[in-house]
Amino acid sequence: MRTSVDLPVSLSRESADPLSAQLADWLRRAMLDGTLTPGERLPSTRALAAQLEVSRTVVTEAYQQLYAEGWLDGRHGSGTFVADMEAPTPPRETPPPPPPARPEAGIDLTAGQPWVRDYDHAAWKRAWRKAADLPPVASPDPYGLPRLRELLADHLRRARGMAVGPENILVTRGTGNGLDLCALALLGPGTRAGVEDPGYHVARTVFAARGAEIVPCPVDEDGVIVDGLPGDLRVLYTTPAHQYPLGGRLPIPRRERLLAWARSTGATIVEDDYDAEFRYDVAPLPALYGLDPSRVVLLGTLSKTLSPDVGVGWLVGDPALVAEIAGLRRTVADRTSGPVQQAVATLLERGDLDRHLRRMRLEYSRRRAAVVELLGPVCRLRGDTAGLHLLAELPEAVVPAVIERARERGVLLDSTGRHHHGRERLHGLVIGYGSASLADVRRGCRILAELIASEYQAPRPSE
Ligand SMILES: Cc1ncc(COP(=O)(O)O)c(C=O)c1O
Repeated sequence: MRTSVDLPVSLSRESADPLSAQLADWLRRAMLDGTLTPGERLPSTRALAAQLEVSRTVVTEAYQQLYAEGWLDGRHGSGTFVADMEAPTPPRETPPPPPPARPEAGIDLTAGQPWVRDYDHAAWKRAWRKAADLPPVASPDPYGLPRLRELLADHLRRARGMAVGPENILVTRGTGNGLDLCALALLGPGTRAGVEDPGYHVARTVFAARGAEIVPCPVDEDGVIVDGLPGDLRVLYTTPAHQYPLGGRLPIPRRERLLAWARSTGATIVEDDYDAEFRYDVAPLPALYGLDPSRVVLLGTLSKTLSPDVGVGWLVGDPALVAEIAGLRRTVADRTSGPVQQAVATLLERGDLDRHLRRMRLEYSRRRAAVVELLGPVCRLRGDTAGLHLLAELPEAVVPAVIERARERGVLLDSTGRHHHGRERLHGLVIGYGSASLADVRRGCRILAELIASEYQAPRPSE
């Protein structure tokens, strides 16, 4: 019987096709002509990479592509198998981009995801039992549940020092939904919307989908650059509490100048406050909304504090604009689930969300301290005083090699380049410590520190 590592694959290094595409092609053909049969186990990425004398990434990418197309089956922890289907599903004309390859010993340090494993099960169940006690309603309120809006106003007063009442609040399904509702009210064909560059791709996509022309607005280490902002923007999207992805916290004088710009041009600032609940060793800065509620719409979310799976966020604005948005929301039959809002209201009311936040602040601060301890000596870190990610600044030429070699060693992370539209001013690694355990963050950062030190010697402060 053939062992799993003697597949007669041959790859050409002269070909214009990437090695991973050639390998995926070879495997597809082998599955069609019966060389590989349903249920058969494929070699591990490590073994096949060694046999073919290619990097493990080549094999991982080929396998990921075939998983995405339905040719392969993964049984958790036990390997990769030819999918057991009567007739293999032909690959689509244009296969969707596969998710980033997850090496076997994967440590995920990409930004964006929170830790969802530690939550208070009893509190969660209680909240849902309570939600089930209440009957469904025939006509959901486009503003959201009055009780939840009261509780959110109270939460924002305490957590963000914002002087708001329920009349300022509309309950959304999260930031993405909030962005769309802003676009519905403020944007459309013929309007221009500024979006931070580098920035959150969802803002670009959602505004463009409502017909706005997207104007990339440059960012430096402190956040969005005010000088040079065009005068004809209807909306400017920004992340002042913790710039996504560079991590800057917009200093107060620049906040004031940004608001002055908005007052003089008539633009509305959409303030994405996505991870403002988390900051380390620094005093809170007031939200832009708190500095001038007439020019700002603030979007908050439970996606970082609890989980994106809950699907609850909030839009805070001037009562007239909130009323307009609520009216428009009805016209597109958009709403936030009532039972979900009931459950969230109970979590807020009983202090469960506050307790969870306190626990997570401590947990994230430990992980962030580990990143600083391990990477601080080998490169310059930015954006490490808030949120769930930071920037490890590196010369542009070094970044791809570090990312590639990290991937080969099982550490997944992003570069700043992936979030850019225009010219890159700051280069480096975006390191998320939300979804990996403290032990994994430490393991991953040790590997990164080694790779960075071998690829690049940071100048000492005195040089
Ligand atoms: C910049 C930014 N804003 C907001 C969110 C959360 O969006 P939502 O509330 O739609 O899940 C994310 C999530 O990754 C984000 O990166």
